[in-house]
Amino acid sequence: MSFLRRVLAASAAGCVVLSAACFVPVQAQDYPTRAITMVVPFAAGGPTDVIARTVAGRMSRTLGQPIVIENAVGAGGTTATARVARAPNDGYTVIVGHMGTHAAAVPLYPNLAYHPEHDFEPVALIATVPILILARKDFPPRTLAEFIDYARANTDQINMAHAGVGSVSHVTCLLLNSFLSINPTGVPFSGTGPAMKALESGKVDYMCDQIVNAVPPIAAGNVKAYAVASRARSPVLPDVPTTREAGLPALKIQAWNAIFAPKDTPAPIVARLNEAVSSALDDRDVRAELLRLGSLIPGPAERGPKALAGLVKSEIARWTPLLQTAAK
Ligand code: MLT
Repeated sequence: MSFLRRVLAASAAGCVVLSAACFVPVQAQDYPTRAITMVVPFAAGGPTDVIARTVAGRMSRTLGQPIVIENAVGAGGTTATARVARAPNDGYTVIVGHMGTHAAAVPLYPNLAYHPEHDFEPVALIATVPILILARKDFPPRTLAEFIDYARANTDQINMAHAGVGSVSHVTCLLLNSFLSINPTGVPFSGTGPAMKALESGKVDYMCDQIVNAVPPIAAGNVKAYAVASRARSPVLPDVPTTREAGLPALKIQAWNAIFAPKDTPAPIVARLNEAVSSALDDRDVRAELLRLGSLIPGPAERGPKALAGLVKSEIARWTPLLQTAAK
């Protein structure tokens, strides 16, 4: 008996009288019966895309249907996120959102066309991702302390890459800049995949990015990392100091990536998707790849829809005052 049929059987057994609470739409009973579209609201090759593709393959095997990644860019990921909020709630369109699209964007877009807490069904957290402060390899400062002095002395001459207003790379560096009282020129990209290419070719000066996007270019010596904004160093980048060690203890932030479905997607479908994510996170090869790129894999207690709903709520509460101050 499939997982979903077990859920249905259990729920039916638990429903003495067939009530609305027990009614499961017919389409949920055999879900999925066709390909699922997983929207990534940034360009291919960036951290959100890499994390999505890392789990999608294993999820597809669990669900028995293809998962088609659709990269849809714009406005720091909020354009695609708003579109998925309005998509049919049938389980065949989901989005990989993150700390930007489903938290930090709320204070930055007064007329945001969705609300992360009201317009989505949280499905599952995929990964927590440390944030690095990165620079082009020939940028003069050699350390974070030198970067702070240099950026303050040259704030009108330097530029910072990001993936659009409200993206993780935008809001994390907005916070960094506010701590340093600097206001560089922002250079937006459709994702930090293309932004990283610009950093590697020296077209932009610095960027705050998710570690999963930075490990390969750092290892290749194409960019330099001043610090990781986490409590402890990353095991995959043991030579990169924490912001505390590097003299900026106040900057302690991280990103996360998670899957969301449109509001009112039937609970058994959400449960089926959640179980597919959790199976992927327990898969040896998926774990190895996520850990190789420096991300942190949520434990069982962090993987449920309710845990993700709590994370979204707490992150909106955390980032709203930070960005109301930083964006002044
Ligand atoms: C972000 O800056 O929000 C993401 O890292 C962008 C991306 O995943 O490309």
